[in-house]
Amino acid sequence: MKKHLLSLLLALTFTAPILAQSYFEDGLSADFHRGRRQALRAQMPANSVAVIFTNPQKNRSNDVDFIYHPNTDFYYLTGLREPNAVLVVFSETRDFGAFSADELLYVQNRDPRAEMWNGKRLGVEGAKEKLGFEQVFLNEAFGKSPALDLGKFDKILSFDLGKDIEESSANLPMAAMLGQFKTESGYTAGISATTQQLYELVRATPLENSANVAQIIGRSRRFYPEVENDSLLIGFAEADSPEKRQQIKAQIPDSKLNIIALEEILNSLREVKSAEEIALLSKAAQISAIGQVEVMKAAKEGMSEREIQGIHEFIYKRYGAENVGYPSIVGGGNNGCILHYIENDLKNVNERLLLMDLGAEWRGYTADVTRSIPVSGKFNPEEKAIYELVLRSQEAGIQLCKAGTEFSEIGRVTRQIIDEGLVELGIIQAGARHSYFPHGTSHHLGLDVHDRGGYGPLKEGVVLTVEPGIYIPEGSDCDPKWWGIAVRIEDDILVSANGPVNLSADAPRTVAAIEAMMEQSSPLENWTLPEVK
Ligand code: GLY
Ligand code: MN
Ligand code: MN
Repeated sequence: MKKHLLSLLLALTFTAPILAQSYFEDGLSADFHRGRRQALRAQMPANSVAVIFTNPQKNRSNDVDFIYHPNTDFYYLTGLREPNAVLVVFSETRDFGAFSADELLYVQNRDPRAEMWNGKRLGVEGAKEKLGFEQVFLNEAFGKSPALDLGKFDKILSFDLGKDIEESSANLPMAAMLGQFKTESGYTAGISATTQQLYELVRATPLENSANVAQIIGRSRRFYPEVENDSLLIGFAEADSPEKRQQIKAQIPDSKLNIIALEEILNSLREVKSAEEIALLSKAAQISAIGQVEVMKAAKEGMSEREIQGIHEFIYKRYGAENVGYPSIVGGGNNGCILHYIENDLKNVNERLLLMDLGAEWRGYTADVTRSIPVSGKFNPEEKAIYELVLRSQEAGIQLCKAGTEFSEIGRVTRQIIDEGLVELGIIQAGARHSYFPHGTSHHLGLDVHDRGGYGPLKEGVVLTVEPGIYIPEGSDCDPKWWGIAVRIEDDILVSANGPVNLSADAPRTVAAIEAMMEQSSPLENWTLPEVK
């Protein structure tokens, strides 16, 4: 009995997920989210419904869950940051007898005990009052009251569902809503955005071109297990005559459920940022740049990668940022060559170059800023040569961030400068293929670090990164004097009517500016802590 009581007490101490607050008082306005739902509605096909689930709570271990983060499409459209919720948007206003509505929101219940442990919930009334929805219901009513009757719609738009709904009790309401939705919408087990795209390709392609489609499926099956497990698609890929392909084509199910269209609509909506969003992104970028500045002052031999990560993240918290937008990357020397290095466990950064890629998340919007600095305070000649080449490439990329530039042009120009520079430095032969710049130059930035958006011509209001890099791991096929040098320079650029605006410009970027900043003193210099055995 005693043992039982003890474990109960321990459970009381540690149990329960840690919920972030369920909406931001100083984030996007209810009007913003309402306007985004209207914009979604305007792009939906006639007589259609969009059903958008938020993320489930994810378990970390035993009875501790990860800090909750909502699905960013759901958040963009609602402002709600609680799990166990779903948004329903109709293309036209629908009459439910007692009321008519063009959108419904289903939320988790108020629960004094759960709220005592995990924080406040909005509940039905809170969602009406704070988020500005008119028709809000408890999640247990989803699909039933008011009856959704999904069969009455010509199209049901949703996302690729349910892969990460864990079997934890925290997600039971989520699992129940998903089950209800799958039953009513004719959601086929195992369907994914890839299988649906391939089904549509098969349906839309005339018989004479069907061999090309068979080839595409053949390539996809190597990367997507759900394609490998789809007997119709595999049958189509392996059929040895157009007639056999035609027979299989006739069996491809025609479904009202569309899990591609919503992706395309949200890509187009989220690509261009409003003034409200730009203000939040700008704040995230400024805070992240100040983190880089403070680390430039404080960094010295003997510090660990983790300590440096901690200084950045302390600055974020000091300003009140709620989170980091992605796991922080702090890589000393050769570790900088690992693109998404997040162990950050080198005990002494020595006098090497230090690559630091971090971003504060401010009211849902994340920055993504990288600086590469010499821990000694001075670049050596090889480090300087590589650094200035990357900087020249980045400058050219930033100058291209104007409305009308093709997205791919930024990658082409920045890569060409790096290729030519590597030849001039004797690191590669002219025309040689190499892997010293193995990633893309730019991506959209917003609620996600790799945000939704198109990859055609840039538009005013787009925010994107420009982040060329050169990474020369130990043992590379070049003079060893270059080994272990890793440089990425990454800034967050707004495409404005007046050209590119660098939102993270407060972090020094030139060799001279970085070296000058590193000479400045840091308040951390006089801060000693007791030794811990
Ligand atoms: N921090 C990830 C990236 O730069 O894309
Ligand atoms: Mn990036
Ligand atoms: Mn980055």
